[in-house]
Amino acid sequence: MRFTVAIDGPAAAGKGTIGRAVAREYGFAHLDTGLLYRAVGLAALEASDGVIDPVLAERIATELTEDDLARPDLRGSRAARAASKVAALPRVRAALLDFQRRFARREGGAVLDGRDIGTVICPEAEVKLFVTASEETRAARRHAELSAADPALTVGQVLADLRSRDARDSQRADAPLRRADDAVLLDTTELSIDAAVAEATALIRARIEQGRD
Ligand code: CDP
Ligand code: CDP
Repeated sequence: MRFTVAIDGPAAAGKGTIGRAVAREYGFAHLDTGLLYRAVGLAALEASDGVIDPVLAERIATELTEDDLARPDLRGSRAARAASKVAALPRVRAALLDFQRRFARREGGAVLDGRDIGTVICPEAEVKLFVTASEETRAARRHAELSAADPALTVGQVLADLRSRDARDSQRADAPLRRADDAVLLDTTELSIDAAVAEATALIRARIEQGRD
């Protein structure tokens, strides 16, 4: 069976948490596509003098392997900022396209989360979700995750980081962050993780049952 769940939305909205949970529920494979951009961004930043070289970033994207996605520092703010810079480069996006499309149509079902899954990577996805939450909620949640490793980090710093990434991601010319016309909006501001996962699961179940009719 081929079945794709596309999850998009702004930073720290709950995309990955929901994606992992529904993948577990249905036995689908899960890909956090943000990790691809984070790995390219961090490697390109480390190889630079502070200003990322687009040609180098493209080469890193072309040569990216699964091992590159296992770095523990990919979750941090430095990797996130670098990711959103290389993500604005069309050649970097093009280099990562095939891998994501193949993953989406693999046998057994797949869940992908990111910014352009329902619009560019997999416009034919069986289920599309646009997950969001208020800026303050997203900043508080991301701060709770990151402050254990970095106690000096403030909620204000996290909020500023999310805002600048969301702005860059929404305003870029190539594959900007936007809700696909046929994506279901899921605002998790007032939702627990369990409640958000239950809504996503119900949507997928309804779509699977519709396919059996
Ligand atoms: O993948 P994305 O950046 O959109 O967000 P995430 O990493 O899944 O979620 C960010 C944080 O919010 C995590 O610590 C989740 O546990 C938390 N979260 C939450 O508190 N309530 C939700 N309904 C969804 C996520
Ligand atoms: O977890 P969070 O939502 O904070 O970020 P992420 O999903 O790991 O993505 C990091 C950055 O990669 C984003 O700010 C985007 O610039 C970029 N990205 C993208 O352009 N397209 C995707 N499909 C996924 C991520």
